[in-house]
Amino acid sequence: MIRKICCIGAGYVGGPTMSFMAYKVPSIEVNVVDINQKRIEAWNSDDLDKLPIFEPGLKEVIKKVRGKNLNFNNEVDKAISEADMIFISVNTPIKKSGLGAGYASDLRYVEASARRIAKNATGHTIVVEKSTLPVKTAETIKKILFSDDQQSSHKTKKSFSVLSNPEFLSEGNAISDLAFPDRVLIGGEDLDAMNKLKEIYLNWVDNDKIIFSNLWSSELSKLTANAFLAQRISSMNSISAICEITGGNISEVEKAIGLDSRIGEKFLKAGPGFGGSCFKKDILNLVYLCRSNNLDQVADYWQKVVEINEWQKERIYKKVVCNLFGNVAGKKIVILGFAFKANTNDTRESPSIQIIKDLLQENAEIIINDPKVSDKQVFVDLLGDENPSQEKIYIEKDVYKASIGADAIILLTEWDEYKFLDWNKISSIMNQPAWLFDTRCIINKKEINNTSLNFWQLGDGFTNQIN
Ligand code: NAD
Ligand code: UGA
Repeated sequence: MIRKICCIGAGYVGGPTMSFMAYKVPSIEVNVVDINQKRIEAWNSDDLDKLPIFEPGLKEVIKKVRGKNLNFNNEVDKAISEADMIFISVNTPIKKSGLGAGYASDLRYVEASARRIAKNATGHTIVVEKSTLPVKTAETIKKILFSDDQQSSHKTKKSFSVLSNPEFLSEGNAISDLAFPDRVLIGGEDLDAMNKLKEIYLNWVDNDKIIFSNLWSSELSKLTANAFLAQRISSMNSISAICEITGGNISEVEKAIGLDSRIGEKFLKAGPGFGGSCFKKDILNLVYLCRSNNLDQVADYWQKVVEINEWQKERIYKKVVCNLFGNVAGKKIVILGFAFKANTNDTRESPSIQIIKDLLQENAEIIINDPKVSDKQVFVDLLGDENPSQEKIYIEKDVYKASIGADAIILLTEWDEYKFLDWNKISSIMNQPAWLFDTRCIINKKEINNTSLNFWQLGDGFTNQIN
């Protein structure tokens, strides 16, 4: 019976998954620990609007369990020593330098966690990989756990089982993804440990949705799932460019092909390029795995998914500049949306970042609006500094104020707020000729018809005929 769980890493995955688990299984005590003191303080904040991440439904869950069977703290060693089961949910970014730089995962945080577990665990501990990891990482974790155990001067009896239980939640939908997962994947070799983890999920997930596999299939399935999802988006983004030239309309194409039950309608929405902390990282990791094993054709195939994604962002930036007579110097450009997708405050790999950076290179003046991203985060992402003395970037929480005197608006995140704007009012306060670029295809063209706006919508070959 699992009585105490420890989760190392209180991030976008550790926070919501453990809160939800604690909520569904009141008999288990869950300790979420992190080395980042500020993050833990934010998780413990009395004001639930100040939690470190914004996720619909999360604060309601936290309200029910925090201080009861869910705790956030920095006492990593203590939480490890008391736990029957430990989830490793730390970040696994791409290596910035050294062997495999730009492709391979930086496993320093995983390794540090494994070493700390090896040192502090007591009795039998089930160690669960929750982070997305390169194939065969479980082997490394096992080596660390078992070697430290053997060398331990205390010679206390401790043993470990290592499982892989990748997380498939997507940000902005985390709570519903956790509540109604398509599947829960448990990879391992120790059937008893696998069943113990399964028992926890059975508190809210149907038996037939919980599947077992070997460790390597589990690790590889996570990378493959992300690569497939990203590939669908890159495929549609590539077709959006053809639509614009041929007169096709990408939304119509998405609908037509999505109705083929073999293809399905999800993850076919063309946009400014996929963002988020994982798609690019996980595909590059897959590319690295292939190259290291002399599978260059396979590596090239997946690499293209990332290349098309970079090209899509570049293509949008160029489209803006070309339509503004090839010159944006000194022009006011409003950016609607800085998060990488709607319903999250996460900005990691957001397409907005690269597109804005390119426009800043052209000396444009940028006014950014986002309902959830903090001002600090915007400056850190664009300039690497929380309080820069940069004069060309402004943040404005009111879209109408932001639009006064603007030459162009670029819609980059599909927030609901942007679907119901008064475009007549906006066009009347902009500098003429004024442009609106909708890269998420969420604006109804008919609403633009009665305004003075020049309108460009991604993947729409007919757009230019409006004006
Ligand atoms: P994150 O950066 O939000 O959180 C990771 C946390 O781990 C940080 O708060 C960091 O301080 C902490 N940490 C690092 N080393 C530590 C250590 N030695 N001891 C204690 N704490 C430590 O990352 P995330 O978005 O939650 O992602 C975590 C993992 O889950 C990654 O491997 C990612 O690929 C995977 N994943 C993420 C998502 C997502 O939606 N973000 C979804 C599925 C899988
Ligand atoms: C993604 C996966 O969907 C999750 O299953 C996975 O667990 C997670 O990565 C992870 O491993 O981190 P996430 O990045 O949170 O989740 O969000 P998605 O909804 O997948 O969106 C990723 C990016 O693709 C966003 O920029 C989004 O705008 C874009 N996207 C998504 C499209 O452009 N079109 C679509 O049809 C769907």
